[in-house]
Amino acid sequence: MSSLSFRHLLDSNQIQESDLEKLFTLADEYHLKPQLDCKQKIVATLFFEPSTRTRFSFESAMHRLGGRVLSLENGETSSVKKGESLADTGRIVSNYADIIVMRHPKIGSVNEFAEFAHVPVINAGDGSNQHPTQSLVDVYTIFREKKTLDGLRIGILGDLKHGRAVHSLMTLLTRYKNNHFTLISHPDLGLAKEDREAFEKHGCKLEETSNLEEGIKNLDVLYVTRTQFERFDAGNSKGFKDNYCVNKKLLSAAKNDLIVLHPLPRTGEIDSEIDDLPQAKYFAQANYAVFIRMALLSLMTNTR
Ligand code: NCD
Repeated sequence: MSSLSFRHLLDSNQIQESDLEKLFTLADEYHLKPQLDCKQKIVATLFFEPSTRTRFSFESAMHRLGGRVLSLENGETSSVKKGESLADTGRIVSNYADIIVMRHPKIGSVNEFAEFAHVPVINAGDGSNQHPTQSLVDVYTIFREKKTLDGLRIGILGDLKHGRAVHSLMTLLTRYKNNHFTLISHPDLGLAKEDREAFEKHGCKLEETSNLEEGIKNLDVLYVTRTQFERFDAGNSKGFKDNYCVNKKLLSAAKNDLIVLHPLPRTGEIDSEIDDLPQAKYFAQANYAVFIRMALLSLMTNTR
């Protein structure tokens, strides 16, 4: 049994504070000195949706740990295309790998797959639902940069309705009662009512606005996301596009020590003119992803 509190990682709700401590400590260690802890291990990455960072950082993580990688970068080339069920795919791939990382457009699909897999499964994104390892990357970045996960003023900008990275991150950060959230979105892309209610249960404050200039004032962290056009029919509405842009002018109204994060890819919501400013941490965030995923792979395969 792994020293983490979960066997499969499907939802950020499963992640306990003790898991964060273990993962952060090991990620710090790997950052300083990579070790070949997964020499005998194989990860299979099954992606039924596009990915650059998530798949590559998992694969890079396994290579850095001395393990091997089986990669399905396009689900269309697997037997699922011939009609094989996710359950059978889970049973079969479990014979060939020690851990499986999977992304799929359907909500709940990775849970269904994990039920039939006999090795640990990591959800790398199921539709608009959850993306728990991205939230680990995000909180690790915030912790490295701010030295705390509590008592922060956090702005979440963009598509809060369909963004799985947003849902997973808020699952983790709303547990800390002293955090204050400013949710900034187009009125049609706000957080679903049931999500909002679930997050508010923990007692932290959530306020909503569609005014970015107002919303950015006093923030410690601004988490920017793109509009998830592939998840809904935006019709001809141009309103969703070019709706917000984080640029130098906007940052001049923010605190000097604000940090700007983005799970990436960005599609216009962050102007590249801020890339070299000290506030821009989204590329550092993509780099931290490797160390957090190394820690996950070795703890979930019991090699540490
Ligand atoms: C995110 C995703 O796939 O949900 N990207 C990522 O994993 N880094 C965010 C997005 O696609 O907008």
